[in-house]
Amino acid sequence: MLNNLEVIILAAGKGSRMRSTLPKVLHTLAGRPLLQHVIERALQLESQKTHVVYGHGGEAVPAALDQFAIDWVEQSEQLGTGHAVEQVMPHVDDHATVLVLYGDVPLIELDTLQQLIAMSDGSKLSLLTLKLENPQGYGRIVRSQNGAIEAIVEEKDATDLQRTICEVNSGIMALPAKQLRGWLSRLESNNAQGEFYLTDVIAMAVADGVEVSGLITEDSYQVAGINTRNQLATLERHYQLKQAEKLMEQGVTLRDPARIDIRGEIGREINIAADVTIDINVILEGHIEISGGCTVGANCLLRNARLGQGVTIEAMSHVEDATIDEQCSVGPFARLRPGTHMHPHAKVGNFVEVKKSDIGEGSKVSHLSYIGDTTMGSNVNIGAGTITCNYDGVNKHQTIIGDNAFIGSDSQLIAPVTVGAGATIGAGSSISRDAPDEQLTLTRTQQKSIKWRRPAKGKPSKDKS
Ligand code: UD1
Ligand code: CA
Repeated sequence: MLNNLEVIILAAGKGSRMRSTLPKVLHTLAGRPLLQHVIERALQLESQKTHVVYGHGGEAVPAALDQFAIDWVEQSEQLGTGHAVEQVMPHVDDHATVLVLYGDVPLIELDTLQQLIAMSDGSKLSLLTLKLENPQGYGRIVRSQNGAIEAIVEEKDATDLQRTICEVNSGIMALPAKQLRGWLSRLESNNAQGEFYLTDVIAMAVADGVEVSGLITEDSYQVAGINTRNQLATLERHYQLKQAEKLMEQGVTLRDPARIDIRGEIGREINIAADVTIDINVILEGHIEISGGCTVGANCLLRNARLGQGVTIEAMSHVEDATIDEQCSVGPFARLRPGTHMHPHAKVGNFVEVKKSDIGEGSKVSHLSYIGDTTMGSNVNIGAGTITCNYDGVNKHQTIIGDNAFIGSDSQLIAPVTVGAGATIGAGSSISRDAPDEQLTLTRTQQKSIKWRRPAKGKPSKDKS
C-alpha cells in the first residue's frame, strides 16, 4: 500500500431526510454508528492520517467516536463537498495521495479501495463509479466519444440528455494532494445548489492533463449512501445476510439466515466455532466467543458472552457479560447479568436471574430464583424460589455457599451470610446468620392444626350478628 496515503471522510452534512435529532452519521448499522464503519475501514488502509470533516450535530459526532486516533476537522458551514475537503487540506501533506470517503456510505470494502488507490498510483485521479438502472439523484459521469471521463455533472445541473446517463458518481475518489489543493482553490459555486462541488475537480484534472480513470463497481451496496431510515433498514438486512452467510461458511448451522442479527464483526469481536447451532431470532452483540457443540435457542440475546464446549442456551434467555463454561445449561427464560460465571456442568433454569455470581461446577439453580453477589461452590442445589437478599437499601452484601449445600425451596439468604459445605437449609427459611457445615438449619414456626369450619355461602357468621 502507498506509504503517503491520507483519508478524508466527509461527515458534516445534515441528513435532514432522517428526520432525527441525532446526526445522520451516528445512526447505527449492526449496532455501530455509520461513521464508525467508515472510520474502521479507513484505518485498515494503514494510511498516514485519517481526517474526518464534521459539522452538523457539532461536537456530538467526535465525542461519540473519541476512541479513534483521527484528525477531526470542523466545517462550520456546509457549503458543499468541495468546501468540506478544502477544510482539511491545510493538514494534508503535499506529497500525499488523498482518498475521499463518505460518512454515510458504510459498506465500502477494503479491496475496492485498494484497487482504487492502486489505480491512482500517486499521480492520477481515480474515481469509483457504478451503473444504475435508476440514476436519479446522483452525479452523472460524462465520457467522451472514446470513453474517457471528461466531467461529473450533478443532476440538478444536468441537461436532459445528460440525465439519461446511467453511470453515476459514488463520490469516492483517490487523487494527488498537490493538484487537489490547486483545483479546490479554483472551485466556484455558480451552480444549481450554490455549493462548492468536489465533483468539479474532475473537469479541472482533464484540463490540466491529469489522467482520470473510473473503477466501475458491480456491487451497489458497497457505494449505497444512507439518506432515509428506509435505506438504513435495507442496508442493515443486506449486511446481516452477508454476516449470516459468513457464519454458515465457517460451519455454523443457522435455522434461518434471515432471522439472526450480529452486532459486531465476525472474526474480530464475534467468534463462533464450527458445529454450533443457532435457532431463529437470536441477537449476538459485542464480544462473543462460542465454542463447538453449543446450541442457542430461539429469541435469545447474547451480549459479551463466552460459551465453552457443548453449552446449551434454551429459548428466550438473556445473557450479558457472562462466562459460561463447558456443558452448562441455561434457560429457557433465564437472565444472566454482568459478572456471572457458570463453572462446568452447572445449570440455571427458567425464571432465574443471576448477577455478579459464581455458580460452581455441577451446581443447579433450576427454577424461579435470584442469585446476586454470591460465590457458590460445586454441586450445590438451590431450591425453587430461593432469593439472595443482597441489598439493604444502601449497600450490596455477599452470600457464600459451600460445596454440596442444599437450599430448600422458598428460602431467603440475607447477606452477608455464609452457608457451610454440606449444609441443608429447610424450605421456607429466612437465613440471616451463618449456617454451619453439614447441619440442617431452618427458621420455621411450628406447624399447628386448629379445628375450623369454612364459612358457608349466604349464611352470616354467628360471631358478627
Ligand atoms: C454527492 C456528489 C454526487 C454523487 C453523490 C453520491 C457532489 C457535489 N456530489 O452528491 O456526484 O453522485 O454524492 O452519493 O459531491 N458533506 C459535507 N459538507 C458539505 C456537504 C456535504 O461534509 O458541505 C458530506 C455529507 O455529509 C455527505 C457527503 O458529503 O457525507 C455527500 O454530500 P451530499 O450532500 O449527500 O451529496 P450528494 O448531493 O448526495
Ligand atoms: Ca447535496
